[in-house]
Amino acid sequence: MDDKKLILSGIQPTGTFTLGNYIGAVRNWGTLQDEYNCIYCVADMHAITVRQEPAKLRQNTLNSYALLMACGVDLEKSILFIQSHVKTHAELSWVLGCNTQFGELSRMTQFKDKSQKHADDVNSGLFTYPVLMAADILAYNADLVPVGVDQKQHLELARNIAQRFNQRYGDFFKLPEPYIPKMGAKVMSLQDPTKKMSKSDENPNACILILDDKDTVIRKFKRAVTDSDAEVCFREGKDGINNLMTIYSVFTGKDMDTITAEFAGKGYGDFKLAVGETVADSLEPIRTEFERLIQDKAYLKKCYTEGAEKALRYSQRVVSKVYHKVGFVDKG
Ligand code: TYM
Repeated sequence: MDDKKLILSGIQPTGTFTLGNYIGAVRNWGTLQDEYNCIYCVADMHAITVRQEPAKLRQNTLNSYALLMACGVDLEKSILFIQSHVKTHAELSWVLGCNTQFGELSRMTQFKDKSQKHADDVNSGLFTYPVLMAADILAYNADLVPVGVDQKQHLELARNIAQRFNQRYGDFFKLPEPYIPKMGAKVMSLQDPTKKMSKSDENPNACILILDDKDTVIRKFKRAVTDSDAEVCFREGKDGINNLMTIYSVFTGKDMDTITAEFAGKGYGDFKLAVGETVADSLEPIRTEFERLIQDKAYLKKCYTEGAEKALRYSQRVVSKVYHKVGFVDKG
């Protein structure tokens, strides 16, 4: 690779991503490809920290892979692979885990949330998940990590682990920086705009899935919870409208003042319809491309096989050096 900076990011295979995943992360994965060397993965090993049905996980992983391509990850420019195909992540994860404190992991808010939500299965993978995520990043010695706000704490931990490793074994890892978009780093639920939009929300109207058809997208936006005054303007306390304006702004490129002027004198109904139509029309080409790609299993297999080979070759160099640094005997 040349001297462009290196980007690494991942996403869990939920099958179809939410509008939050798309705006907060995946959409930017495509736009960053010209300026940076980019490596992206479908994080299936992360997914099994909560119970999964094996056949469904396999299907969701393939869907996610195809969907990332449909969202603009271009295999001519980027490396795209499935995490479990590249053994270096697990190998590095062990070493990093031995350089991570129990207390640090206990402070992770996502662990606290998830262990409450899955109280019958607080497994050690759920606890050490951020170490594996640090390994995903550090196995490539990445410079930048494009994520939504909810991953910021995990990324800070990855930096701390890298720093500690460097102190113990001599400077080696770069300290990866988060790349968090100015707009849409936290897309909120359409039904409770004080909460993050998430696929696990019990109310299906809370969350737009990027494979939702046009009518469904419009219907969900029409039902979005807003407030009782009728002015489309970005202001504290107007969480629902602020969220819709942010989404509209991301897709149209219009700033908040322009949006306010566009809907002056009109009701929320008109605004919600405009947001719904804009989002549905923007997602349409992704759906079409996904449908095409997912039919072609042989092509997908070729893509993820090549992606894994490239990722392994790259990360193997890094992980071999780490193994040497910690004192493992070099393989012949
Ligand atoms: P995951 O799969 O939960 O989410 C994928 C990406 O989507 C972002 N995101 C959001 N952004 C804005 N608004 C929302 N409502 C919203 N919901 C999700 C997330 O911030 C994330 O960027 N642990 C990671 C996956 C991962 C990873 C990595 C990320 C595995 N290895 C290495 C970076 C680097 C996760 O569970 O993301």
